[in-house]
Amino acid sequence: MNQWYCSICHADLHQETRPETCDSCGADSRVILSSQEEIPESVEQVRDNARKKLKKICAAYPFCDGNYDKICQREAYGGPVGFGGAGAGHSFHENVAALSRVKLKTSVVGDHFEPDTSTNFLGIPLDFPVLASSSAGVEKYNNCMDETDFCRAVVAGSKEAGTIALRGDTASYSLDANPSLTAIGENGGWGIPIFKPREQSVLKKFLDMAEENKARAVGVDLDGCGSTIMAGMGQPTFKKSIREIRELAEHTDLPFIAKGIMTPEDAEMCAEAGVSVVAVSNHGGRVLDSTPGTADVLPAIKERLGDRVTITADGGVRTGYDVFKMIALGADAVLLGRDIIRAAVGGGTLGVRLHLAHVEKVLKKAMFMTGTRTLESAAHKIIL
Ligand SMILES: Cc1cc2nc3c(=O)[nH]c(=O)nc-3n(C[C@H](O)[C@H](O)[C@H](O)COP(=O)(O)O)c2cc1C
Repeated sequence: MNQWYCSICHADLHQETRPETCDSCGADSRVILSSQEEIPESVEQVRDNARKKLKKICAAYPFCDGNYDKICQREAYGGPVGFGGAGAGHSFHENVAALSRVKLKTSVVGDHFEPDTSTNFLGIPLDFPVLASSSAGVEKYNNCMDETDFCRAVVAGSKEAGTIALRGDTASYSLDANPSLTAIGENGGWGIPIFKPREQSVLKKFLDMAEENKARAVGVDLDGCGSTIMAGMGQPTFKKSIREIRELAEHTDLPFIAKGIMTPEDAEMCAEAGVSVVAVSNHGGRVLDSTPGTADVLPAIKERLGDRVTITADGGVRTGYDVFKMIALGADAVLLGRDIIRAAVGGGTLGVRLHLAHVEKVLKKAMFMTGTRTLESAAHKIIL
C-alpha cells in the first residue's frame, strides 16, 4: 500500500495508485502527492514544482520583474497577458525597479532585541503584515489545479502561516459558483473577497454573500474596470464614481477595500466615499502599461491620507526586505500576488505556508539588521 498526501488539507491517504480525489476534502489528483517523494520541504522545491506545472506561462525566475526577456511578457504582440504585465511590461517591471531603488540603513550597534512583526489589520490580529493578494483564473494556466482547490490553498495556507488571504474574481466566477467565497466559507470566513467592479446590483449581491460566508472584510479592485477578459466573456466591468463606491461601502457592515489606487487624488476620493482601506496597486502592471512603480507613488498617497484609512501596497514585492520597504514607505500591510500563486500551484496549502513563513523570517531579519523593533518605527530605516 502506498502513502499519499493531500497538499490542500494535509490528509494522509493510503492506496496503491494515486487517488482520484482526497477522501477528506475532495481535492482532485492534481494536488495529491506521493508521501515518499513529492512533498516539498522548501520554498525552492515549491517553486521548482510550479515551474514544471506552469510550463510556457511562468518560469518562476529568481528575478520576477516582467522584463521583456521573460516568457510571461507576450501581450505587446497580441499574446495573452498570462502571468505577465500589460503591453511591454513597463508597469510590471517598474514595480520591481522602484523597490530596488529604495535602500536600507544598516544599524548593528545597540542592545540586542527580537523584532516584533505582529500587527492588527482592520481589527484582525496577524503575526506579520503580509497578506496573500487577490488572484483568480489560475485553473486556466495549463489546467494546473482546480480553481476552488487553488482558493482553498491560498486561504488555508495564509491562515496556517498566521495571516489572512484576499481572494479574487474573474469571468468564470458567478453568483451561483464562486470559488473565492467557497474557500472563505469553508475556513470560517477567514478571508477577504475582492470583487471585480461589476454592475452595482450584482456587486451588492456578492457583498451580501461575503457577509453570509462570514468574510472579515470585502472589496472591489477598481482598476478591474479595464478588464478585457471580463468584457470578452460577457461580464462587463465599470468605472465606479464616488457615489457608487460610497453606496457599496454603506451597503455592507464589513470593512470595505478599494484596490487599484495609484494617485493621491483617487485615494482622497475613496477616503471621502468612506472606504476602510486604500489598496495601492497597479494590479501587478496588468491593467495599464507605463505607470510608475507602486513604491514610487506610495509616499505621496500616505502623505495625503495620513492615518484616516488603512493603506496596503502591492506590486513587485518578492522578499521580506521588499515588505519592510513598503511598510517604511507608508503601507500598513503588504500584499503578495504572483509569488503566492506560484506557491499554491507548486505546493498547495503547504506551499503557501512555506512561502509566507520564509517572507516572515526575512522581514524579521530586515528589521533586526536595521535596528527596527516594531513596524511603526520602520519609516526612519530607509534611504530614498
Ligand atoms: C494571474 C494573476 C491574476 C490576478 N487576479 C486578480 C484578481 O482576480 N483580482 C485582483 O484584485 N487582483 C488580481 N491580480 C493582481 C494581484 O492582486 C496583485 O495586485 C499583483 O499581482 C501584485 O503584483 P505582484 O504579482 O508583482 O506581487 C492578479 C494578478 C495575477 C498575476
